[in-house]
Amino acid sequence: MSSRYLFDSNVILDYLLERKHYPASAKLYGQCLENGIPILVSTAQIHILEYVFIKKVKRDAPAQIGTARLAWRAFLNEITIVKTPVPIQKDHPLAVHDLEDYLIHLSSEAADVMVVTRDANFLRLSKRSISTEQALADIGKGIALEAAHKVAFLDLKTPHIKLRDALETAFDRILNSGIYILGEEVDAFEREYAAYCEAKYCVGVANGLDALHLSLLALGVGPGDEVIVPSNTYIATWLAVSRCGATPVPVEPDEATYNIAPTLIEAAITSRTKVILPVHLYGQPADMDSILTIAQKYNLRVLEDGAQAHGARYKGKRLGAHGDVVAWSFYPGKNLGAYGDGGAITTDNPEIADRIRVLRNYGSRVKYVNEIRGFNSRLDTLQAAMLRVKLQHLDIWNEARRKIAAQYLAGLSDMGLILPFVPDWVEPVWHLFVVRSKTRDQLQQQLNRMGVKTMIHYPIPPHLQGAYSDLGFRKGAFPISERIHEEVLSLPMFPSMMLEQTNQVIAACRDARVAAQ
Ligand SMILES: Cc1ncc(COP(=O)(O)O)c(C=O)c1O
Repeated sequence: MSSRYLFDSNVILDYLLERKHYPASAKLYGQCLENGIPILVSTAQIHILEYVFIKKVKRDAPAQIGTARLAWRAFLNEITIVKTPVPIQKDHPLAVHDLEDYLIHLSSEAADVMVVTRDANFLRLSKRSISTEQALADIGKGIALEAAHKVAFLDLKTPHIKLRDALETAFDRILNSGIYILGEEVDAFEREYAAYCEAKYCVGVANGLDALHLSLLALGVGPGDEVIVPSNTYIATWLAVSRCGATPVPVEPDEATYNIAPTLIEAAITSRTKVILPVHLYGQPADMDSILTIAQKYNLRVLEDGAQAHGARYKGKRLGAHGDVVAWSFYPGKNLGAYGDGGAITTDNPEIADRIRVLRNYGSRVKYVNEIRGFNSRLDTLQAAMLRVKLQHLDIWNEARRKIAAQYLAGLSDMGLILPFVPDWVEPVWHLFVVRSKTRDQLQQQLNRMGVKTMIHYPIPPHLQGAYSDLGFRKGAFPISERIHEEVLSLPMFPSMMLEQTNQVIAACRDARVAAQ
């Protein structure tokens, strides 16, 4: 079932003109408003609608024209206008029959929705059309069904619907600029993201792995060096170290926060150690002060992996420059995600920023002058433009995640699950909401049967991956991390998640527990 509809002009005019013969049209309009279902209208219709509506009122009830103009304004505020894309297929049966209908059909394709109409020809000639009655029936069944049976793990589409206008404006700006690599758009994003992270510098790169890799190179890590990494992380953290020819030295996490345990770091330091690389896992900052104190004592540098923690705060200050440098990923599912790959570093250190700026661009500052052997790892200009739009919404989205987390924490407190622990000094951004259960796999299967999708972050720790078999770690080498990997389950978490959906996940967890007993 579509959860949004594009309204054909006849249905909208039924509603605006209060036509008595077609009560289903106004009813559908009202149901959509009531249930928060977006009402879409094509750019191909809007001016014609206004013309017909105002003209009819002027002709049939001139005394009502003032009221009609107000009604039109209110209508504009209630609808979402969607573009009419090109190119046009002039011999499409609907185009031959009625060009306006065909343009509406094209808009529905662009927005990936159905057109509601009471025009028999539209219904016959477009596979994307449904009758007003059918839409009403779908809403009646569909909303209940959706709420009762399905909660996706992540919804990447919904937040973007509201941003469509701004994203398309940004897209057109890039298309018209003729500048597709670096340029003002990347510079602007770097300025804006640095400011957001309360850091002096930001350098955009191609992805999160490159952000880590180039940061390590900028910190002088090379073959023979060692870098302290969490044993409990996504493998990218380790891979960046290996890519430098250095060795990742794993340190177990604190079992309450899942982040690297500062008390265990000193024992892992050797004369080869160059960098400590904490990860702000699941969106919760690691214990930076303790890590920085150790780094200072042993003269080590600190690179933070911020891939999961855009906007999080440690002791009131945003992540961005607590350590020497922070590596960010804009992978689409992240709190700040692009429409493809993207990454960045932030730092207060001008030399590190400068080094990474040169490394990402073939080792070059001036075209065709290559100071060092660099890489092609630039943040895509188009992605930078999209990220600028999304950055403006990041705080609102993170706040929505916080509300969902608070609901989960309250609702799941008595179910025998280990819930996330948040120390007083951090403000997490809930990239993931991770619970732990000794019967994790059964819990996951049962939730799945109840329509609640979950994921495991992560099923196999890096030291037991084939990629790191050469380091010789056997099962049992990092027992805390291994236990965590066996027990963790990530519940659905995304900013557009509705209260009913969170409650549904909580209820499903309760049912699953009862079933497991
Ligand atoms: C903790 C962590 N570090 C690094 C990365 C790598 O980011 P990317 O996929 O953009 O290379 C990711 C995500 O994928 C991650 O979750």
